[in-house]
Amino acid sequence: MKVLCFGSMNLDYVYQVDHIVRLGETENSAGMRVNCGGKGLNQSVALAKAGVPVWHAGLIGQDGISLIDKCKEYGVNADYIHVTEGRSGHTIIQVDKDGNNSILLFGGANRRMTEAFVDEVLSGFGEGDIILLQNEINLLDVIMDKAYGKGMQIVLNPSPYNEDLNKCDLGKVAYFLLNEIEGEQMTGEKEPEKILEGIHRKYPEAKVVLTLGEAGSIFMCGGTICRQGAFKVKAVDTTAAGDTFTGYFISSVISGMKPEEGLCLASKAAAMAVTRPGALDSVPTMEEVLEFQGKETIIC
Ligand code: RIB
Repeated sequence: MKVLCFGSMNLDYVYQVDHIVRLGETENSAGMRVNCGGKGLNQSVALAKAGVPVWHAGLIGQDGISLIDKCKEYGVNADYIHVTEGRSGHTIIQVDKDGNNSILLFGGANRRMTEAFVDEVLSGFGEGDIILLQNEINLLDVIMDKAYGKGMQIVLNPSPYNEDLNKCDLGKVAYFLLNEIEGEQMTGEKEPEKILEGIHRKYPEAKVVLTLGEAGSIFMCGGTICRQGAFKVKAVDTTAAGDTFTGYFISSVISGMKPEEGLCLASKAAAMAVTRPGALDSVPTMEEVLEFQGKETIIC
């Protein structure tokens, strides 16, 4: 079974601020860095650092060659990353003194997928292979339909949640991994249990992982539910914590772990990621996660 992550690659322009800038306000930033990120690439790196061989597919501009260098550094197969006209995707990220962030996204090359490129990528994959998707690229609906047609298992992190997802046949998704904000956008419900019920009603075959920040995470499959508390750490930068969780949880599925073990592993990995600055550079290795001694303090 091969694992393909077809998704975004961004240059993250990260500004350290006291608080997230308010409407009409001008605020000095205490520091600035350019990091490699993008939900897609962060998740590929998380899979690779968890020990899963992964192919990343996506588009960048000439300004984004460092994104390919990161794939080489962390062992992500970059054969399906093409360089195209124009700028790469980028973000403007504010990180406040508590490690919280706000992200402004410019799609750039991530929004220039073509059907020919999709076909070329998917020709390397087949029945039973896993495709991991997020919602930062165009043609998501086309990719999903074609991958499903080939018998691939679709894992979707519907992030950011927007109207593009309405074009997708979400009944084809085997696993949803989402946070409570995306859960509310998807179902109109605020309470975790109601969100899960809402997703189960619409997509009864799908397995769902709902992350709740400091309140932990929940896995649901049919009538079975299991919960995991969050590990308390001092947050430096929460960017890519969700992506780290996603990559590690999928690695646990691939290695045949039980859902409760997968939630625990992914929660540890995400907790470690928030203690470090940056996006994909903040993802810990499996060795580091297995050594993590943090305390699980909050049970949702
Ligand atoms: O999930 C974090 C990521 O979201 C950042 O790396 C940024 O690029 C945005 O895509």
